[in-house]
Amino acid sequence: MKIAVFVSGNGSNLQAIIDASSKGEISSQISLVVSNKKDAYALERAQKAEIETFVIDPKEYSSRQEYDTKIIEKLKDKNIEFIVLAGYMLLFSEVMIQAYPDKIINVHPALLPAFKGTHAIKDAIDAKVKETGVTIHFVDEKLDNGPIILQETLAIQTTDTLDTLEEKIHAIEHTLYPKAIKLIENNKVIINERRVELLS
Ligand code: GRF
Repeated sequence: MKIAVFVSGNGSNLQAIIDASSKGEISSQISLVVSNKKDAYALERAQKAEIETFVIDPKEYSSRQEYDTKIIEKLKDKNIEFIVLAGYMLLFSEVMIQAYPDKIINVHPALLPAFKGTHAIKDAIDAKVKETGVTIHFVDEKLDNGPIILQETLAIQTTDTLDTLEEKIHAIEHTLYPKAIKLIENNKVIINERRVELLS
């Protein structure tokens, strides 16, 4: 499967996917890394792995539809079959969702539908919940909303700080994301009325 990974920042999940691919744990080929930020550290990771990058600034487009249409042109040009969001901070317009129906996944640092949004780890600490975790889900037009593929829970200790919890969450993300990609590559993931079934 030819995939594009979308990033906006550090790119530790991109790195985990690059590493899983080079170890042969997944068979997908990362053919493109797309970023809305030209200074994202993720771009350096991509360049180091000799993956083509595509930086595109939304401020240069009059609408998000127009912006996504430009990205789709590039994706089609590269024969991209599947999109993996790894810390991409923009919401897709319906143009992208329609171009790649059920072919876009995201990683979220909480147990959705709890703690949607950009501060999920801090929000879980502030809410004083006993457990949080990581969700891998399909992407639709709404924020952190599509069918859930995999979730892994993590107990929050009273001694946890934002830093320690972030570290634990990221460690889970880095194994769970390649696992989800592998399931999809192997046609083990079926969506049935918004519910994901995993075939054995
Ligand atoms: C991760 O915590 C992910 O769950 C969230 O954004 C963060 C991206 O981190 N969607 P990185 O850029 O992959 O290091």
